Amino acid sequence: MWAAHPDSRFRFRQRLTLMILMAVLATGSTAALAAVPYLDANGKPLPVDTEEEVLEFLRTAKIVSKEKLGEGTNKSKRKIVLEKDGVRCNAVLRTGYKVVASGDTGFVDSYLSEVAAYELSRLLGFDNVPAVVRRKGGSIQIWIENARTLRSILKQDENPFSEEWVEQQRQVMKVFDNLIANTDRNPGNILIDDHDKVWFIDHTRSFAGQHELREPEAITGFDRDIWQQLQSLPDGTIEEVVGPYVRGYMPELLQRRRLLVDEISRRIAAEGADQFLFTLGQPD
Ligand SMILES: Nc1ncnc2c1ncn2[C@@H]1O[C@H](COP(=O)(O)OP(=O)(O)O)[C@@H](O)[C@H]1O
Ligand SMILES: [Mg+2]
Repeated sequence: MWAAHPDSRFRFRQRLTLMILMAVLATGSTAALAAVPYLDANGKPLPVDTEEEVLEFLRTAKIVSKEKLGEGTNKSKRKIVLEKDGVRCNAVLRTGYKVVASGDTGFVDSYLSEVAAYELSRLLGFDNVPAVVRRKGGSIQIWIENARTLRSILKQDENPFSEEWVEQQRQVMKVFDNLIANTDRNPGNILIDDHDKVWFIDHTRSFAGQHELREPEAITGFDRDIWQQLQSLPDGTIEEVVGPYVRGYMPELLQRRRLLVDEISRRIAAEGADQFLFTLGQPD
């Protein structure tokens, strides 16, 4: 049920081959193919080979300007321009840290949680959170160029994506949001770039004080590869890599991971692995 339609896969492969051929013809080699999916402020591929180099750029580039972010009046979030060695790149600076209590559902709104979400996503193989680093009382995240929010796509008359693909993306996101206890997923916090890559952003209201899964019933399928990682990643690795950013909320995170593994294991036992697990298909 979740397998990609063979025709659309074939079309995608054809398109990919054509794109690679065009790149090789244009440059005379394959060396210019983008190694990471990020662009500079002019929309050109960042001249780096690895995600680590992107993180290094975010940590060390000079902040050359700051402006208000989107429609929000939130002063703790700014769109900034970074520059290093002649490369300019847009980014987001988030600096807020506050404990918000409202009724029973208090939460912490922290720039550190954006970094925690990114590090955890990488450990598990979700490649949906844009690179972000902690830097002097804030977090700096690379700007995804040429992207639209899901909110703006939903305003269009026609959704350009296949139902199956949208559903798979939703399922991946639901597992991630249950894991990080995200209280703020909304269509403004999902980006889709011009290569139809889905990005999850704005995780400052995640991770705090939630021992239970927030929305287990929303999990109706999952990605086969990430499932392997979700089961096998040692607690110690999560503590080591994500610990500095979730601080005291680590026991809750490890508990949610256990609950998620139990939940998904139950569903697989009931529905069958081939029915529940999928390999991500193509958008159209
Ligand atoms: N890394 C990013 N790349 C591209 N656009 C972004 C990025 N981060 C935020 N934005 C844009 O800025 C908007 C506001 O950012 P967000 O972090 O969601 O703050 P808030 O919702 O608190 O105003 C997003 O809806 C999106 O349009
Ligand atoms: Mg937002």
